[in-house]
Amino acid sequence: MEEKDEIRIIHLKETDSTNEEVFRLKDKVKIPFFVRADVQVKGRGRYGRVWVSQEGGLWMTGLFEKKGEYDGVKFMFGSALVVHKTLLYMGINARIKFPNDVYYKDKKLCGILVEERENLIAVGIGLNVNQKEPPIPSSTTLYLITGKTYDLEFLAYNIGKGIMEIDRKSIREVVREYRENLSTIGKTVNIFTPSGALEGTFEDLDVDLNVILRGDVIYVIPAFEVLHLEEYER
Ligand code: BTN
Repeated sequence: MEEKDEIRIIHLKETDSTNEEVFRLKDKVKIPFFVRADVQVKGRGRYGRVWVSQEGGLWMTGLFEKKGEYDGVKFMFGSALVVHKTLLYMGINARIKFPNDVYYKDKKLCGILVEERENLIAVGIGLNVNQKEPPIPSSTTLYLITGKTYDLEFLAYNIGKGIMEIDRKSIREVVREYRENLSTIGKTVNIFTPSGALEGTFEDLDVDLNVILRGDVIYVIPAFEVLHLEEYER
């Protein structure tokens, strides 16, 4: 266990999924805490997809108490923002794709899986870092972008610290900053919701967490109802 500046990060060689591991440890470790693993043998993505999690990537999950109604969405947007800002600080100009993917050009670098159980929220970050091959064809890694290898402990510490700060911020503060850094604004998109797909220009994300989409008419779609979003060139 590394304990610096109040951040508890448990480092494992292997686990099924760090999102599962934090829930198993919930009564044994003081919350908030993080688990990071070198390898996940059952890494999970959104919508029940598999997340390829071999050695070289940053696979970590933070476990937090749910204090407000919008905490889940706050961590969803906030952790994408933290990863984006950490990468910018390292000189890597990646971009946030709505709702919480981090892309480099048209390849995925980072995915985030936020899960709530009872009054707890798991914030799972999967960042492709030192892998020499893309985990899947539509993805990339920091090594493939810059040719450099990175210290995973340093990354875990900085991203973990950023996520702890999100915990202390209000949803409004987080949404404001997230929106300023959201690359999807202005793009032509297809938005999939439980009641069907809508096409148009992603105009904005307002402070009440609605996506404003300009199609045949202006659609106001609660962010929670966006199941999936595809960006494409006209
Ligand atoms: C996605 O884009 O589909 C989300 C991927 C989230 C992957 C991370 S890796 C750490 C944590 N543990 C998991 O099993 N999943 C998340």
